[in-house]
Amino acid sequence: MEEHKKEKRYSRVYDQLAVLVKKSHNQQARMATVVAVLHHKMDHFFWTGFYMIDQGEMTVNVYQGPVACQILEKNKGVCWAAYNRKETLVVEDVHQFPGHIACDSRSNSEIVVPFKNREGEILGVLDIDSKEKAAFSAVDAGWLEKILQLIIL
Ligand code: SME
Repeated sequence: MEEHKKEKRYSRVYDQLAVLVKKSHNQQARMATVVAVLHHKMDHFFWTGFYMIDQGEMTVNVYQGPVACQILEKNKGVCWAAYNRKETLVVEDVHQFPGHIACDSRSNSEIVVPFKNREGEILGVLDIDSKEKAAFSAVDAGWLEKILQLIIL
């Protein structure tokens, strides 16, 4: 998607989500709402969901898209890299990323955004895959980080 169009789309999605998430004080309900809206409004999203740390394991949570790995091998792949580095990772070509975990071979690019609580502790990550190469940019990173703030209670 063209960057200017993407900006406008995210801006509308953000305003919509800001209203929707307030209807619940349940974190998982908010996560599910964010995933559903993003997945259906952003054309370049092929898999959209959360992996959350559960007893030390990176475990799949609410998502939309093809069936995904339930548990990601520790310290391997993009989700663990973003978690360990405590920063958003934009991967233009997942096939070039050392240790990338291919839950679906149709994915070509990926963005992973750490999901932090109020204290700044990372609870998990928001992971989005695209069939297109280099589908994600700093525009996605900025908006997705902002959208995750809406979920925090
Ligand atoms: N590709 C991810 C694994 C999760 S799937 O993309 C849904 C990774 O390398 O961590």
